Amino acid sequence: MRLMEEKILSEGKVLPGGVLKVGSFLNQQIDCRLLKEMGREIARLFSGCGITKVMTIESSGIAVAVAAGMELAVPVVFAKKHRSSNVDGQIYSAPVHSFTHNTDYAAVVSRDYLREDDVVLLVDDFLATGNAFQGLILLCGQAGARVAGICAAVEKGFQNGGDALRRAGYRVESLAVIDEMNEDKIVFRPQASTVL
Ligand code: G4P
Repeated sequence: MRLMEEKILSEGKVLPGGVLKVGSFLNQQIDCRLLKEMGREIARLFSGCGITKVMTIESSGIAVAVAAGMELAVPVVFAKKHRSSNVDGQIYSAPVHSFTHNTDYAAVVSRDYLREDDVVLLVDDFLATGNAFQGLILLCGQAGARVAGICAAVEKGFQNGGDALRRAGYRVESLAVIDEMNEDKIVFRPQASTVL
């Protein structure tokens, strides 16, 4: 998505350790014009797939997921993060390891909000190692729901999580894929389906 790439180039900051800071438009302050276009682009990519629900994980993925859900006219459900994996009750639960923060948590969602007839689009702000998406896939599996696609606003292609998901057979469409970045340059992966 050209708009996303331009925004990353103009406002993104590459920090040591392969972290891209996007606080000015995605993670802390949100550029609502860009967010609306992101929702439109995600809906365009996945229109005709029979999506019944957009799913993400708290917290930074929620804005992007809601933008997509509004365009697709479907509900958005977000998994919550629990520090312990010993959570009981009427929930689905999956362990997730955060590579960036080196922490472990349980992603949990109420059984009421994910059903076996759901066709789910998974959305998040970042796709790095892919652990968060793998957790969401486990939750969908527990519910018997079908994962129809995966979409991140920014994929860090050099961390290989997206390519592993593609090899596993998932349709992964990220709005911008960064194959290389350092303080001097950011290299995007060319994307065939980009129109915006
Ligand atoms: P993964 O989900 O792809 O495996 O990635 P990882 O565990 O490394 O990501 C952990 C957290 O860090 C996620 O947010 C993810 O969105 C975020 N993240 C990963 N790489 C970057 C980056 O380069 N820049 C920024 N800004 N964020 C990155 P989180 O910890 O779950 O927090 P939040 O969603 O509550 O913000």
